[in-house]
Amino acid sequence: METTVKTPLETKSNLFVLGFFENNETTEVQKELNLKYPFLEKLNGNFEGKFNETLAFPLENGVMAVIIGLGKKEEFNSDKLRQSIASGVNAANKYIKNGTISIELPENSCVKSVILGAYMANYRFDKYKTEKENKIETLEILTKETGLEEKIKEASIIGNAMNYTKDMVFESAEIMTPSKAAEIAYELSKKYGLEIKVLDKEELKKQNFNAFLAVGQGSVEPPKFIHLTYKSKNPKKKAALIGKGITFDSGGLDIKPASSMLTMKTDMTGCATVLGVLKAICELKPEIELHVLSALCENMPSGSSYKVGDVIVSKSGKTIEVDNTDAEGRLTLADALTYADELNVDEVIDIATLTGAVITALGSNITGIMGNNQAQIDEFKETALKSGELVWQLPIFDDMIDNLKSDIADMKNTGSKGAGSSVAGRFLQNYTKSEKWLHIDIAGTAYTDKSYKEIQKGATGVMVRSLINYLNKN
Ligand code: BES
Ligand code: MN
Ligand code: ZN
Repeated sequence: METTVKTPLETKSNLFVLGFFENNETTEVQKELNLKYPFLEKLNGNFEGKFNETLAFPLENGVMAVIIGLGKKEEFNSDKLRQSIASGVNAANKYIKNGTISIELPENSCVKSVILGAYMANYRFDKYKTEKENKIETLEILTKETGLEEKIKEASIIGNAMNYTKDMVFESAEIMTPSKAAEIAYELSKKYGLEIKVLDKEELKKQNFNAFLAVGQGSVEPPKFIHLTYKSKNPKKKAALIGKGITFDSGGLDIKPASSMLTMKTDMTGCATVLGVLKAICELKPEIELHVLSALCENMPSGSSYKVGDVIVSKSGKTIEVDNTDAEGRLTLADALTYADELNVDEVIDIATLTGAVITALGSNITGIMGNNQAQIDEFKETALKSGELVWQLPIFDDMIDNLKSDIADMKNTGSKGAGSSVAGRFLQNYTKSEKWLHIDIAGTAYTDKSYKEIQKGATGVMVRSLINYLNKN
């Protein structure tokens, strides 16, 4: 989607999305547009401006108006703006075939929310559809404000990064194999001139990624470990970002029931997220050093699968008794965290579709976060809320390690029932030496079976914009 800026006098658009608050006050832009296409009269008595109310009617010569209610002016904020723009775009897509729409920028509001709302509503994963649904090609921001270019560019970069992540997540596991994800990483490195390392099975063995290798050993798809580095001239901070990269999670020998396996092609959302974030960072070019890591493999049952009762000597040297082959994500992340210890970074963040328990705790719209550094957790939480994404901290107590006691090894990979997300977090904490480590559990929020506000069903691109904003701050 292209984005341009036009005034009412300049625009040649065929469809206008115009916002009205409850008091029906008309804006300068609307008054000017009204000279061209008299429409204000048609509104009288037909539209209250209630939040999320929409009204569509033809102007002249096939030009359409889609009116969206913005609610009470004093209750308006950027979250509501994003949501109203999304409903405006959804409505517009009913009337226009792959063309240009013009969206009025409500006065004193943020153009970034308008663009993100439009990007989110306009996303389709339609490569396998013979008949494509309508999709807006050009977005025109209708305003008399000037100097919006930088903000528009930034929001478009973020919107495109979210779409990039969603495309990867939506793709079938048959296509989105560890090798394919590694190819995508190579493409990124080429496009943006990044340093890249891809470790294959032999190299992984040499470097003792035994917990990671155990998870992947039941699959015919070879595992890949990717490490991409973005480095600006004078980095003000150094961070490592790790994404869980299970390209399909059948559960392994502890196989999942059919209904739980249905969406398990999305178990690489962490990887897709960190690659999307990296892409945006390469375009925004902040003064940071960013290492993006993912341990990619499939968790499959077969004659060569890892088994319950196996004892693995992880990369860190700590031994793990396999209690459940379906708790695979934490095994791959453990070795990735150990690898990150060598990178000499100020902070480590991992993002993973890690536990079903986070859905029990927080549902499908709130992401669980936890870690070992309260300042980092607070900072991320604040950034996420400002970015319009809901997060909530779950506790990690040292004592939780007792849950993971093994009779024959240093620990097991699962504990007793209850507090599953925190226990998984506690497990991970054992594998990082970083004193600033944040863990983000997106098992509940990465993928949704129904649309909610501006979030379309399917892959959500959750946390892409929060992570970009977090890293792009300084
Ligand atoms: N990938 C799953 C977690 C998941 C569940 C992601 C639902 C998305 C939606 C993870 O590997 C897993 O299977 N976790 C187990 C852990 C258990 C065996 C301790 C779970 O949550 O059931
Ligand atoms: Mn699993
Ligand atoms: Zn998994």
